[in-house]
Amino acid sequence: MGTSSTSHFPLDPASASALAATGLEYALVDPDGDGFDPFLRSVARGFLDEEPSADQVESARESLRARRLTGVFDRAGVAPDAPVATVDSWSSELTVSPGRSLPLWAISAVTVAPTHRRRGIATALLTGELRTAAAAGYALAGLTVTEATIYGRWGFSPAAWASDVVVDTRRARWTGPQAPGRLDFVSPSSLPERLSEVHERIRVRRPGAVPGWEGRWRGLAGLLPDAKDGKKVRAVAYRDTDGVQRGILVYTLEEGEQYVAHELQVRALFADGDEALAALWRFALEHDLVGRVKAELQPAVPPVQWMVADRRAVAATLTDHHWLRVLDVPGALASREYSAPLDVVIGVDDPLGFADGVWSLRIGEDRTAVVERTDAEPEVRMSVNALASLLLGGVRATELAVAGLIAGEPATLGAIDGAFAPAAAPLLDIWY
Ligand SMILES: CC(C)(COP(=O)(O)OP(=O)(O)OC[C@H]1O[C@@H](n2cnc3c(N)ncnc32)[C@H](O)[C@@H]1OP(=O)(O)O)[C@@H](O)C(=O)NCCC(=O)NCCS
Repeated sequence: MGTSSTSHFPLDPASASALAATGLEYALVDPDGDGFDPFLRSVARGFLDEEPSADQVESARESLRARRLTGVFDRAGVAPDAPVATVDSWSSELTVSPGRSLPLWAISAVTVAPTHRRRGIATALLTGELRTAAAAGYALAGLTVTEATIYGRWGFSPAAWASDVVVDTRRARWTGPQAPGRLDFVSPSSLPERLSEVHERIRVRRPGAVPGWEGRWRGLAGLLPDAKDGKKVRAVAYRDTDGVQRGILVYTLEEGEQYVAHELQVRALFADGDEALAALWRFALEHDLVGRVKAELQPAVPPVQWMVADRRAVAATLTDHHWLRVLDVPGALASREYSAPLDVVIGVDDPLGFADGVWSLRIGEDRTAVVERTDAEPEVRMSVNALASLLLGGVRATELAVAGLIAGEPATLGAIDGAFAPAAAPLLDIWY
């Protein structure tokens, strides 16, 4: 759903020769072949996870079958079939403005064995992914990151943010809307389908969002083999007065310092509409024997702040979450709908070349853009990183200019802010 295989694209020759020059082999890994087990073990080691069980390998094989898996092999090592570096990628879809989306080259599982670190292997893998994606016609690549220090060097930059939310439920007191529908407990085994159904409706309206996949929903539901908290998972579904399922809350409860102050940990809170959002948050905040509710990947300014008597009972910590890389400037900029007309010439600096150049961006009364290469003098200058951060309107040009990341006259930057203002704050509500 929302994804298709990219495994038929050839391996990037430049990365293959850069790796070969250091005695390493760059190769695709067949998810159905013998190489999958060692591939997955290398990924688990890279992310500091335990060794996967045979059941976990089979379950991951199902999830990753639609992906392009690439490994780097050191055939002189004691385990020549175990990759010393890994990456996977697939064709996803990014919502750029409500109801409009763009194919996205999604990247994950970037690992380099600690025995082979800092020799340029990640550079070969990431630049190889970008060249392959660009050659295949993708305007954007994207990923979610473990550290904020790694991917800027290849032109990635945050484009959608998310908040980790912690609510002290004893201070909060619900003052939000009363939802007219009903809540019911639902079984964990029903969750993959329910989560997928609700999320598909939400993500097409939310800039920054991408589709999930069966393995992601099974993970949130605690249904993956050997899941640590699998038996603790509980879930409620909200149905509106017409009986349509509008929201799902998946959570676990952890005993706090006292029995009466458990912590409710949200694994997923997907709400299709304001009613469902209020119903699910109210359920969480008013749960008996709970003193604290924790939820990751919430909107940057979480709406629940406006639904409680003491807004300071809601602490929200902002993190960069969705990192994008522009590969094709006209393809990326012309994909979204804008908030105001604009006529501006933008100079983009891209050391890797993909987006480098001077571009005319004209947004008409119909709020759509025409983007062309031009010889005109740029009115604003920015790095390809800054362009990715601006794309969905999650940060203002005037803010990036304060940090020296965009140069231009204040009036021009103000006009860009007006045009790029998003219809909804960009948010990515899953990890990928
Ligand atoms: C992050 C990781 C993939 C980097 O691999 P690597 O092969 O050592 O990276 P490279 O040798 O290609 O380094 C390229 C550049 O990035 C820098 N770099 C690499 N990892 C970095 C990090 N974690 N923080 C800051 N800089 C980093 C290098 O110093 C180098 O800089 P230079 O170009 O100025 O010399 C590797 O450390 C790893 O597997 N980490 C654990 C798993 C992980 O976090 N993966 C990311 C998932 S989102």
